[in-house]
Amino acid sequence: MTTKSTTRSATYARRQALRRGGWAAAAIAAGAARWLVPPAHAQGSALAPTPRDAEGPFYPRTFPADVDADLTRVAGRPGVARGTPLLLSGRVLGADGQPLAGATLELWQCDADGTYHHVGASGPQDDDFQGYGRTIADADGAWAFTTIRPVPYGGRPAHLHFRISHQRSRRLTTQLYLKGESSESGMGGFFSRERDRLEIAPVRAPAAREPGALAATYTFVLEGA
Ligand SMILES: [Fe+2]
Repeated sequence: MTTKSTTRSATYARRQALRRGGWAAAAIAAGAARWLVPPAHAQGSALAPTPRDAEGPFYPRTFPADVDADLTRVAGRPGVARGTPLLLSGRVLGADGQPLAGATLELWQCDADGTYHHVGASGPQDDDFQGYGRTIADADGAWAFTTIRPVPYGGRPAHLHFRISHQRSRRLTTQLYLKGESSESGMGGFFSRERDRLEIAPVRAPAAREPGALAATYTFVLEGA
C-alpha cells in the first residue's frame, strides 16, 4: 500500500469514526435514554422476529391515570419509585429491518416489593411506582422507558412484560429478562425457552438523572400482519 493510499484509508477510517461518534453524540443529545441505539441499516435486511412469551395475568384491566413512559414517577405524587432506576431504550423494526414508526409499546412489571399494580394482585405496594406505561416509537422506530430494574417474585426470574402493536404488523406480546438471571425455578414450562434472545444486559448509565441508574437497550422485531 502506498503512503498516499494509507493516508487515504486512515482518513476514511477517521471519517467513519467521526460519523459514528457524531451519531452517538446526537443520540445522547436527543435524550439520555436513547443512547446506544443503532441506526436501521446496521440491523441487516432479514431479521428473526422477537420470540413471543406468555402475557401473564397482570396486563391491566383498567389503566392508571398516568400511563406515560416514566414508571418511576406517578403524576400528582412527589415521591420516586423505590428500586434501581433503569433507562430502557431501543427500536422496533419489521423483519425487513425497517423501523416501525408509530408502533405502540406497552410495558408492565411488578414494583420493588414484587407486587403488580393490578386488581388481582395483593401484597405490599410501592405507590410511587407507575406499574404500567406506554410510548410510541418515533420515525426511526426508537423508543425509551424510564423504569426500575425488575425484581424476581413468586418463583419467577426478574422480567418486564411488553406488548407492541403496529398497524402493519402482528402484535407481539413478550417478556424481557436480565442476562445471567433468567432461569426459571418452577414454572418454566409456561414461558419462552428462547431466553438468550429475550435478555437485556443493563450497564451503569453514564449520564443519568438518578445516581446509580442502569441503562439497557433492546430491539424488537415484529412479523408482518
Ligand atoms: Fe410477570
